[in-house]
Amino acid sequence: MSLSPPPTLTPLHVRRAEPAAAGIQSFELARHDGGPLPAFTPGAHIQVRVPGGAMRRYSLASDPSDLSFYQIAVKREDPGTGGSRALVDGVKTGDTLEVSAPQNDFALAPAAPSYVMIAGGIGITPMMSMARHLVSSEGKQFRLFYLGRTSAQMAFADELSGPAFRGRVVTHCDEGDPAKSYDLWPVLEKFKGAHLYCCGPRGLMEAVRDMTGHWPVSAVHFEDFGARQAPLATDTAFTVRLARTGTTHVIPADASILETLRDAGITVSASCESGSCGTCEVKLLGGVADHRDIVLTERERPHKIMVCVSRALTPELVLDL
Ligand code: FES
Repeated sequence: MSLSPPPTLTPLHVRRAEPAAAGIQSFELARHDGGPLPAFTPGAHIQVRVPGGAMRRYSLASDPSDLSFYQIAVKREDPGTGGSRALVDGVKTGDTLEVSAPQNDFALAPAAPSYVMIAGGIGITPMMSMARHLVSSEGKQFRLFYLGRTSAQMAFADELSGPAFRGRVVTHCDEGDPAKSYDLWPVLEKFKGAHLYCCGPRGLMEAVRDMTGHWPVSAVHFEDFGARQAPLATDTAFTVRLARTGTTHVIPADASILETLRDAGITVSASCESGSCGTCEVKLLGGVADHRDIVLTERERPHKIMVCVSRALTPELVLDL
């Protein structure tokens, strides 16, 4: 167990806030004195305090070689907890936002010979920093599959259709019709040494996970936006026993194991809190988990659990904590 202290926040100037696509707003954030921002690597995210005080996590879309600004792109989600709406509706050019230093749970593997990126909708944001970085600096091979519903909702589409990305980017819109979904199987059928990066709606990530079961686990990377899945109507309370400390904790139907342990003063390392980064992995010593992450393989699932999202199929789970 280790403590995760709250991030230190720095006020940054919103030098530009403008639409990037239908329902998506781009924000460029810079230091008030114009100086360089803390360095980051492709795939990194920052935490932003949105109007109203809540903290939200957003991937950086900008090229890491240009530290004069950070770019984030925010989709205005109508349902949900309102963080994105507050940001899109309430923050204008010239405002100030408090942000954390960048962190990266979705880093490009430096030794990979090539990369395959699959972005669904607003999942394009971390891929933009990766693609811009690869084009501007490394010259390594990559292919980006950018999947969306309509062309009006595809942020960065103009840039990605430009000469810098020619031959490297496939964009596809399904108009909301599952029958028109892009077929990724020819891309994923054979593992050829590339590292795969996927960010987008949960359904897309689960489909990609299922199609890459034969890839090495270390070559497949997922990222989402920390959007906690809503509790299911069928969720019930269960208990968790911590084998090392001997304490037992009741996990309510509307709270995660991670949150309940946190409330009890026990903090497990965590980052995405949405089952995609693998940081909160804990050994499962007893009971059967109801796995809701997209990280663990079928082989790992009997013995490990991601405590930020997964629950129990048995009345009690025993964790190696
Ligand atoms: S904190 Fe990322 S998987 Fe749990």
